[in-house]
Amino acid sequence: MALQRPLAAIVLAAGEGTRMRSATPKVLHPLAGRPMLAHLVDALTALSIDEMHIDRVVVVVGHGAERVTTTLQDAISASTPVDFVEQPVQRGTGDATAVALSAFSEDAGLDEDDVVVLVADVPLLRHETIEELVLLHRESDAAATLLTMHLADPTGYGRIVRDARGQVARIVEQSDADESELAITEVNPAIYCFKRSLLAPALRRLTATNAQGEYYLTDVIGVLRDAGHSVSALTAEDHLECMGVNDRVQLSAAERVLRERINTRWMREGVTMVDPSATYIDASVTLEADVRLLPGTILEGTTRVGAGASIGPNSRLINTQVGERSVVQSTNARDSEIGPDCTVGPYASLRPGTRLAAGVHVGTYVELKNVEVDEGAKIPHLAYIGDAKIGARSNIGAGTITANYDGKMKHQSVIGADVRIGSNTVLRAPVSIGDGAYTAAGSVVTRDVPPGALAKGVPAEIDEGWADRLEEGS
Ligand code: UD1
Ligand code: CA
Repeated sequence: MALQRPLAAIVLAAGEGTRMRSATPKVLHPLAGRPMLAHLVDALTALSIDEMHIDRVVVVVGHGAERVTTTLQDAISASTPVDFVEQPVQRGTGDATAVALSAFSEDAGLDEDDVVVLVADVPLLRHETIEELVLLHRESDAAATLLTMHLADPTGYGRIVRDARGQVARIVEQSDADESELAITEVNPAIYCFKRSLLAPALRRLTATNAQGEYYLTDVIGVLRDAGHSVSALTAEDHLECMGVNDRVQLSAAERVLRERINTRWMREGVTMVDPSATYIDASVTLEADVRLLPGTILEGTTRVGAGASIGPNSRLINTQVGERSVVQSTNARDSEIGPDCTVGPYASLRPGTRLAAGVHVGTYVELKNVEVDEGAKIPHLAYIGDAKIGARSNIGAGTITANYDGKMKHQSVIGADVRIGSNTVLRAPVSIGDGAYTAAGSVVTRDVPPGALAKGVPAEIDEGWADRLEEGS
């Protein structure tokens, strides 16, 4: 049995996607944080048939070719075997496929190769379905095998014409169909598997004498049947999976399905979602067991949440790590790290470069940027801390501001361990506050404060040895 033979894929992505009405090529519109086309390439590279994987994926680009190529390359891992070929003029899906085949060498093994050909706008297609298609193709030893689906409203799709024996005879495009063909509800989602050795000559026999004046890949089916080859068909049970995305209404429908899949997967892995329909998790996010997500939680990019942590309600975390058992409420965070056992929010804004060690508390109306906060420190209310370090166990009083910007440059504030910053302190950077020092409420600190000193006033006077005298009670 020739069940083990090389497998490649061709993805047709040269079209413009005019119905999106967008400056962005259709296949680059994101779904769950990932370009539409990357989801399809993920499904292709996840293919595993008798432990064999896909050898290569050839993407046909045209409209926005450079953007499509670079965006997709950024979105997939460098080890994914993807090549790009350019179809300079969009003369139809048959022409696009022929252009893609030119990227394959005519070398040995040609007879044995299978090639999956599919349109680029089916981001919901799962690898299991492509595997089924390829397996049927090989088991039935067909020249071509296609996926079909039954739709109550077949408008827009090519119709599947079957012969008297119920075998697929050909595909007729909507614009070329007669009345009886238009009534056919079995349609072509444009997902096929071909023997490569038979596909190439069949493509050469296509003509563009049809309503759209294009070379239709769909005509290959009739050409193969007329030449006496067999064509198999697999009927998809799940229409949604083969749903083509042509406009923004379909884009949002696809987004919903994809998010539901992602949420279901994480719930099965031990994540609690109080309301999955109000929980938005990108495909690239990682969650551990016993994470609890409250409504209005949006997790994006490379965000990771540790075991037992609770996020939300109403929190958006982008490329942010959250440690085990931390609680993050009504918070926006980007490019930040929250250690274990922290409490953040409600109403905190963690901007890039925020790093919280274990057990840190960041409270209400606190904005942090490029700040390293050591274990157990607290910034409980109403503060802006930027370009700073805060030592372990220090407490930052309400209303504290780091004046980090002199109009030209940003400067650092370095706050030691066990420091007490009084309410409404302004720290004019660059400035450093020694371990165990104090600042009085309302002080404006313009000079370094030695360990154990008290800074008070505007600008603050420095009273050395203050903390020791406080201990002694004098
Ligand atoms: C195609 C099928 C139709 C099927 C439908 C499913 C043909 C002739 N018809 O129709 O039977 O029901 O898909 O969505 O194949 N493309 C290129 N180069 C081209 C033309 C198209 O790369 O020259 C790409 C497009 O980017 C797109 C795909 O091929 O991803 C389909 O092209 P499109 O023109 O949208 O075909 P449909 O009319 O939808
Ligand atoms: Ca289409």
